[in-house]
Amino acid sequence: MRNIKEIKNLKGKKVLVRVDFNVPIKDGKVEDSFRIQKALPTITFLSKKGAKVILITHLGKGGDTLLPVSRALNKFIKAKFVPEIVGVNTDKVVSNMKNGDVILLENLRNDKGEQGKDKIFAINLAKLADIYINEAFPVSHREDTSIVLLPKILPAYAGLQMENEVKNLSKTLKSPKHPFLFILGGAKFSTKMPLIKKYLKLADYIFIGGALLNDFIKAKGFEVGQSLIDENNYGIDKIIKNKKLIIPDYVIVRNTDGVMIEKTIADIYKDDTILDVGNESIKLLESIIKKSKLILWNGPLGKYEDGGAEATKSVLKIIAKSKAESILGGGDTVELIDELKLGKKFSFISTGGGATLDFLANGTLPGIKALK
Ligand code: 3PG
Repeated sequence: MRNIKEIKNLKGKKVLVRVDFNVPIKDGKVEDSFRIQKALPTITFLSKKGAKVILITHLGKGGDTLLPVSRALNKFIKAKFVPEIVGVNTDKVVSNMKNGDVILLENLRNDKGEQGKDKIFAINLAKLADIYINEAFPVSHREDTSIVLLPKILPAYAGLQMENEVKNLSKTLKSPKHPFLFILGGAKFSTKMPLIKKYLKLADYIFIGGALLNDFIKAKGFEVGQSLIDENNYGIDKIIKNKKLIIPDYVIVRNTDGVMIEKTIADIYKDDTILDVGNESIKLLESIIKKSKLILWNGPLGKYEDGGAEATKSVLKIIAKSKAESILGGGDTVELIDELKLGKKFSFISTGGGATLDFLANGTLPGIKALK
């Protein structure tokens, strides 16, 4: 990937920067601006070099305005919001831009062309600028027009955060430091199975948590009660005996009286719901964390929206104190990191959700390939 620092003369150049400001919004306000903040170094670098910076992003599935995002962005930098993607209004604003100015165009997914691999839409966007930059790692697993077609029309470069994502996540793929611990939680078993198979070769330990754990408990032949499970098995039987897999023996369940208690996985009743990893298993994980040199973590350990956030919080605190290089990803974990104010204690926190999982599984993404 070509680096933005390689661009020779940015003064007066119009630069289209594809960012991912797909951030959570509640009551018209951005709840978490992590992704916005992570794009700022690229935006200010370009602006200080005298480029005219045109930001483009999607929000949700389409149909929403970026106005709340624009308000959140303007807390950090001055950026005029244009309530249009391409058209007369946008052309006018762009032609009036001064060197160093930053503008934000309306939600890309409000045009069907964005998710339709639409060449005309790509050409119309490309007409706005001289250079294209992909600073949208979290959506680079999608073959969207602004991700895979635009870089084929304009000279294309990777943003600074995009480079950091690739550099740091790659540390777990190419000659990782050992002992290497992979902690995998969350749900969507189907998307996690390729990762488990891959990291059984790369890592020394894989600790299983989240809804994923329920499937492993079931595959071991134990009761999982009312807990969320995947109907498909995805070949779990073939790997379950692998010594690298650490399947917690202790869990926190909510019983039929609504009380949360710690149990061994052999004691789960039909009415119980598994909510979190138990303290005894966290102690075991702590001893592995202490001897690890590299830790990769994706997905919360418990059903955090339903009272199962404690194990994730405890493990975040333990890793924050450890000397291991720590690479974390997954939106839900990021929220808890913020709450605990531990952001600076980890080596790298990925901005991606699905894109991070796809990158770890495949070592590249469509948006990255398109930059080459
Ligand atoms: C994300 O939040 O994971 C990215 O912005 C991609 O969003 P999408 O899943 O709606 O394509």
